[in-house]
Amino acid sequence: MRKFGLIGYPLSHSFSPAYFAQKFADDGIVGCSYDSFPIEDINKLPGLLQDSPELEGINVTIPYKKSVIPFLSDSTEPVIKMGACNCIKIKNGRLTGYNTDVTGFEKSLSPKLESSHTRALILGTGGSAAAVEYVLEKLSIDFLFVSRKNASDKKVITYQGLNKEILNQYTLIINTTPVGMYPSIETYPDIPYQFLSPRHYLFDLVYNPAETLFLKKGAEMGAITKNGSDMLVIQAEESWKIWNEE
Ligand SMILES: NC(=O)c1ccc[n+]([C@@H]2O[C@H](COP(=O)([O-])OP(=O)(O)OC[C@H]3O[C@@H](n4cnc5c(N)ncnc54)[C@H](OP(=O)(O)O)[C@@H]3O)[C@@H](O)[C@H]2O)c1
Repeated sequence: MRKFGLIGYPLSHSFSPAYFAQKFADDGIVGCSYDSFPIEDINKLPGLLQDSPELEGINVTIPYKKSVIPFLSDSTEPVIKMGACNCIKIKNGRLTGYNTDVTGFEKSLSPKLESSHTRALILGTGGSAAAVEYVLEKLSIDFLFVSRKNASDKKVITYQGLNKEILNQYTLIINTTPVGMYPSIETYPDIPYQFLSPRHYLFDLVYNPAETLFLKKGAEMGAITKNGSDMLVIQAEESWKIWNEE
């Protein structure tokens, strides 16, 4: 049996176990399992690997995307640059770290991206904001982070600092906060929606609900919108590809 799985804590609402169970059934993939491993402490990872020597691949979710790094034997360039890993390939006892959120975000952002989208606002400064930052740098899109906290970093502004002039210039707006996610579906990031236009592209990493209030309010002003569902599927498929390539 080839074993795969997900580490994180808690894991009750995770997407990946159900996704891979369905994938294995739909694609007729036999002899594989994908399980949840809700470990309370990242130091339990070596014990888990010892108990499950058949494990070939692991996805990593909150809160271990950063703290898993000391356990890796090798890391790919995005992991080194961002200090965050969400996918591990295990081969001959060696753990190689990847970040498939990066690929997921880039591939799902790109179809609706226009040449005029040269400046972006990243709402939030957490783990997924780092993956978004990595991709925007790669695509040569200038960006500012928008945070609830005042920061000395000149690349970070607060929500209160957003105005018509900034929104005129920064026409790509990416929500990397959990604001608007089920069950708090009546909430939305505190940006001045009245300054949005059809020139804007709003991307929400949240995928439940499919249309958050952030996207709805953007669409009402004519903006292009996209939710996080494709990103989620692409990052899972990218993990599968990594685990199966020689
Ligand atoms: N679609 C996908 O494939 C995918 C992949 C990864 C994550 N996600 C989703 O992205 C969201 C964020 O995940 P994450 O791992 O980046 O979380 P995280 O590390 O906890 O970071 C979220 C950031 O959002 C801001 N934030 C948190 N609570 C807030 C609030 N009440 N109001 C305003 N801002 C708030 C914070 O930034 P400041 O303190 O600077 O304001 C925080 O650093 C989650 O909903 C997750 O499900 C989706």
